[in-house]
Amino acid sequence: MNILAIESSCDETGAAVVRDGRYILSDIVASQVETHALYGGVVPEIASRAHTEAISNITRAALEKANLTLNDIDAIAVTNKPGLIGALLVGLSFAKTLAYSIDKPIIPVHHLKGHIAANYLCFNGDSSPLLEPPFSALVVSGGHTSLINIESYTEYRTVGATQDDACGECFDKVARILSLPYPGGAKMDALAKIGNKDAFLFPNAAVKDRAYDFSFSGLKTNAINTLNTAKMKGEEINTEDFCASFTKAVVTSLVQRVQRLLCDKELFKSNKFVLAGGVAANSHLRTELEELCARYSVEFYCPKISLCGDNASMIGAQGYYEYCANYENQTHFQKELLSLNAYATKRIDG
Ligand code: KG4
Ligand code: ZN
Repeated sequence: MNILAIESSCDETGAAVVRDGRYILSDIVASQVETHALYGGVVPEIASRAHTEAISNITRAALEKANLTLNDIDAIAVTNKPGLIGALLVGLSFAKTLAYSIDKPIIPVHHLKGHIAANYLCFNGDSSPLLEPPFSALVVSGGHTSLINIESYTEYRTVGATQDDACGECFDKVARILSLPYPGGAKMDALAKIGNKDAFLFPNAAVKDRAYDFSFSGLKTNAINTLNTAKMKGEEINTEDFCASFTKAVVTSLVQRVQRLLCDKELFKSNKFVLAGGVAANSHLRTELEELCARYSVEFYCPKISLCGDNASMIGAQGYYEYCANYENQTHFQKELLSLNAYATKRIDG
């Protein structure tokens, strides 16, 4: 089954063709990073406009790269939640129109489910990935930080989540104060490799009496205050050391909770652990989780770096499993076509 997938929830416009939920036939991403970098963060109105300008061309490019035409497409999957509402509406309206014009079903996909599904994917010609539910996952992105039990391809249970800021947002805000270019996560990752991770001490992102929840706002404020105080006093801060220490604090907070989950026989039954989301590209986090899982003899999965950030292939992968789960009732997708809406917020298990 060939699914044409569309992603436009934030600042990347994505179009991809995915076969049977596993094989990427094409994956095109138009990034708006350079535009938003001028403002130090995503400007929603500019994002919507840029999606509108890019979406037709990148969809055409995705079909061409897959060597297919719209006649070869069996369904269209599209991110409709959660995200920037204007940005989501651009992708959704485009996908609805296309699906209507070719008389094919439309499959709405939750963005975070897509990030998790990035772990099912491989490029055509690669060996097939082995991951199948059930498993547990840490989803870390610019807007979310959650520990989730994936019970089947379409059933989720949140184990813990951030009570305030997301982990990626925290990287980006601190990077901005360090005058690193937006988005700062990847730059911080690189600088952290050459810094001293014990140079600064930051608080853990723990939440008292809530074993699996996170709170990144205290850690973020502490880091920003440290930088502002040094600036006021005219003291020099070594950027590499600061990045290394801050990254250590974030990674340690995440890894500690994952470790607790791996030891929790009530909540962790699958013996498979998955990392997903934009921050899954962080080299320190990948290494530490890989080592942790190896110590506990747990199978560890994380997407290829190119599939960690927002892309449409992951939406095509999840779209396939949403379609299969409702196979008995295919008219459901057809009926949804005209009434389908976008939602800025939506729980993964709601
Ligand atoms: O999943 P994503 O592309 O967008 C959302 O759904 O939010 O995640 C983007 C986030 C940004 O905060 C970015 O700074 C962060 O992922 N990120 C990283 C790295 N690469 C991207 N954070 C830490 N280390 C990285 N290597
Ligand atoms: Zn994302």
